[in-house]
Amino acid sequence: MRIDKFLSNMGFGSRKEVKVLLKSKAVEVNGIVVRDPKVQVDEQSDTVEVNGEAVEYVKFIYLLLNKPAGVVSATEDNYDRTVIDLLKEEEKHFQPFPVGRLDKDTEGFLLLTNDGQLAHELLSPKKHVEKTYFAVIAGQVTSDDVKAFEKGVALEDGYVTKPGKLKILKSGPVSEIELTITEGKFHQVKRMFISVGKEVKYLKRLSMGPLSLDPALKLGQYRHLTVEEVELLKQRK
Ligand code: URA
Repeated sequence: MRIDKFLSNMGFGSRKEVKVLLKSKAVEVNGIVVRDPKVQVDEQSDTVEVNGEAVEYVKFIYLLLNKPAGVVSATEDNYDRTVIDLLKEEEKHFQPFPVGRLDKDTEGFLLLTNDGQLAHELLSPKKHVEKTYFAVIAGQVTSDDVKAFEKGVALEDGYVTKPGKLKILKSGPVSEIELTITEGKFHQVKRMFISVGKEVKYLKRLSMGPLSLDPALKLGQYRHLTVEEVELLKQRK
């Protein structure tokens, strides 16, 4: 890969900006100053330094976001702020996208990556990746609901869901529950509760596959996954 592309991909600016950087003699490849943007580097074996600091080539990023309500799970939107607007430039330039969607008013665990293959596998209905949600429900959630969800419920369009594991945390006029499902139909949790005559008042995703929301992340905050977490995801897919 050309050194100007390498540096541009790693966030050192546009190709034009990188050219200026190269001219200023700030860039060394294997200890030798490089000024020519056309010079080829091997991302795996060559050592690239900018102002004496080694630059490691990274292709994919994996971010865990605690999504707040009020932002949409999209990369662009004409009306609303998107989850991408919450990122810093240094992550944005990798062009990550959300793995699946949470509704605008849903909070919690959202993975952002530019690894299309991993995203595709995590979202594939064939892989049955478990997603667990916490919800506040208007209405009394009962053991009949647990049984109905265990079997699968018919949504308003006739689709019968795969079994869901419903755990009642608090039952009353306003109930609190945890629900684990393996699908990701549009508004699925809300529609499953509508099918048993109840309404989701608050929804938060707690986990996806082997990974859970990090309690250290406040709403709107995110962090990079560790190498071990990425490995776990890849094994699970
Ligand atoms: N189910 C929903 O209804 N909404 C979400 O955001 C996620 C799952």
